[in-house]
Amino acid sequence: MNLKYPGKFVTLEGPEGAGKTTQLKLLSKQLESIGCKHIVTRDPGGTAFGRQVRRILLNPETKLCSLAELLLYEADRAQHIDEIIVPALMDGVLVLCDRYIDSTLAYQGYARGIDFDLIGELNEIATGGLLPELTILFDIESESGLARLHPSGHDRLEREAISFHHKVRQGYLELAERDPERWRILDSARAMSVVQEDLRRILHDKFSLPGLLERVV
Ligand code: TMP
Repeated sequence: MNLKYPGKFVTLEGPEGAGKTTQLKLLSKQLESIGCKHIVTRDPGGTAFGRQVRRILLNPETKLCSLAELLLYEADRAQHIDEIIVPALMDGVLVLCDRYIDSTLAYQGYARGIDFDLIGELNEIATGGLLPELTILFDIESESGLARLHPSGHDRLEREAISFHHKVRQGYLELAERDPERWRILDSARAMSVVQEDLRRILHDKFSLPGLLERVV
């Protein structure tokens, strides 16, 4: 539990094409309709600085060594924590963050092969040790997830080899298995409405938000 701030901090994680972003939009609509104070934000790109970093990170033309890539994600995160996440939590808001420290462990750790202790230290420095109370893994097989992506062109990470994406997914499953207290796993290969129902159920079970399980009209 997050004892430091009155707000609630929830992160959403998953491999490419798992549908987190769409699900978050639907969830946010419902939260709004029941008057639940919340924000939806994302890593990377939750601040003006972060949006510039995001463009660099996702541009297929950008040539980055693994360490530079890692440091950019962490720089984005430090700013995001300082400017958006901590102030919202201090305000008592529910913060829904699309990706966070576990993305770095899955992508830069499991898939790129950077030392986990180094990533752990940098995550700690960038966030001041702030952990989410709940992390939801939108799990999908790499092939199915990638097949769902926009055909107009994949970004720098999406263009990685299929073996990279397999490692990301395996990494997530391992992370979730290791800390069942914090993690919930959602099978996001199912129909959008079913996933949405599960997502709301998970949040309701954790925080008992009245009205969350009612249908959106
Ligand atoms: P997305 O927000 O559209 O999912 O794109 C972000 C991309 O960046 C996605 O491929 C995952 C990747 N990523 C990392 O590699 N490390 C990180 O720490 C984060 C937050 C994202």
